[in-house]
Amino acid sequence: MALVKRVKKALGLGPKPVRRPDADGVTYRPLRPLKERLKGWRAVVTNERQRAIYDRVAQSVDPAGYAALQQKYREEIEQADELAVTKYVDLAPWFMIHSRIALLLDIDTRPPGSILDIGAGGGQFLAIAKAHGHKVLAFDKADPAVYADLIALFGIPRIEGGVKLGEPLPDELGRHDMVVVNGQVFDVFPGDRSRRWDVPEWASFIEYLCDTRLTYPGTLFIGLNMSAGPTGTEDFLWPLVDLAERHGAAVDRKRATMRFDLEKPLRFEEIEHRPWAELRRRPTRQAARKIAKPTP
Ligand SMILES: C[S@@+](CC[C@H](N)C(=O)[O-])C[C@H]1O[C@@H](n2cnc3c(N)ncnc32)[C@H](O)[C@@H]1O
Repeated sequence: MALVKRVKKALGLGPKPVRRPDADGVTYRPLRPLKERLKGWRAVVTNERQRAIYDRVAQSVDPAGYAALQQKYREEIEQADELAVTKYVDLAPWFMIHSRIALLLDIDTRPPGSILDIGAGGGQFLAIAKAHGHKVLAFDKADPAVYADLIALFGIPRIEGGVKLGEPLPDELGRHDMVVVNGQVFDVFPGDRSRRWDVPEWASFIEYLCDTRLTYPGTLFIGLNMSAGPTGTEDFLWPLVDLAERHGAAVDRKRATMRFDLEKPLRFEEIEHRPWAELRRRPTRQAARKIAKPTP
C-alpha cells in the first residue's frame, strides 16, 4: 500500500468502503465469510428449482481458494469508495441472479453441452453451468484482473479479447451449443462513446454470432444492460426485444432477456443493416443513404 494511503487509513481518513446498494438494490459485502453470505442469499430464493441450482453451485466453490481471493482483494475492496467490480467477489448475490438466468435456460435439465459466455465477468453464470455438467468457455477483456481471478477460482477456461463493432471474434472461440451475452457493455461506437448500438448493429452482431459461433440446434441468450456502461443509458433497447420476440425468442420483459432456440441461423431481413464485417468501415455516402432508406 502506498505510504500516504496507509497513513490516511491508520488515521481513519481514507475513503470508506460504501455499503451502497447497487441499482438492483443489492448491498454487496465481498469480505464477509462465504458461508454466511451463501446462507443469507439462499433465503431469498423461493423457487424450488432455482434453489437447487443455487445449492449446487454454492457447493462447488473451493472455500480456501475463495478466502485467498478475498485476501488478495481486501485492500482494493476496503479502499473502494464505490464497490465497483470487486462487488463480483461477493458470490452469493450473483449466484442468486444467475441462477434465475440458468432457470430461464434450463441449465439444470438440458443435456450437457458447450456454452460460450461473451463478456463473462466474474463467471458466476458459467460456474453454475459447469456445476451442472456443461463444458464452458469464458470470453472477456484482460482487465480488470478480478474477473480472471474469479474465473480461475471456478476452474473455467478463459480467452481474452473483446467485441468491437465489425471485427471478427477470435477463431479459437469455436462454435457452441449455447452462446450467452448478458449485461454487456460493448455496444458503444468507437470514437463516439456517447452513442450505443441500435437495432441494426445488434441485428448484424446476432447474425454474425449465429453464423460463426453456434451449432444447430442451438440456443442464443441475450440479456440487455440498462444502465451500466459508459453512457449510463437508462432504458433497455426495447425495439430489439420486440424484434427478438417477432423472431420467436422467449422474452422476459422485466429484465429484457431474450432466449432464441434455433434450428438455423437468424436472419433479420426486414431490418436495414449491413453484414457485421462491413461495420468496421464507415459507410460511403451512397451506402449510408441506402441504409437510411425506410423499409417499404
Ligand atoms: C456488467 S458486466 C456483466 C458480466 C457478466 N456477463 C454477468 O452477467 O455477470 C460487463 C462485462 O462485459 C465485459 N466487457 C466490457 N467490454 C467488453 C467488450 N468489448 N467485449 C466483451 N466483453 C466486454 C466486462 O469486462 C464485463 O465482464
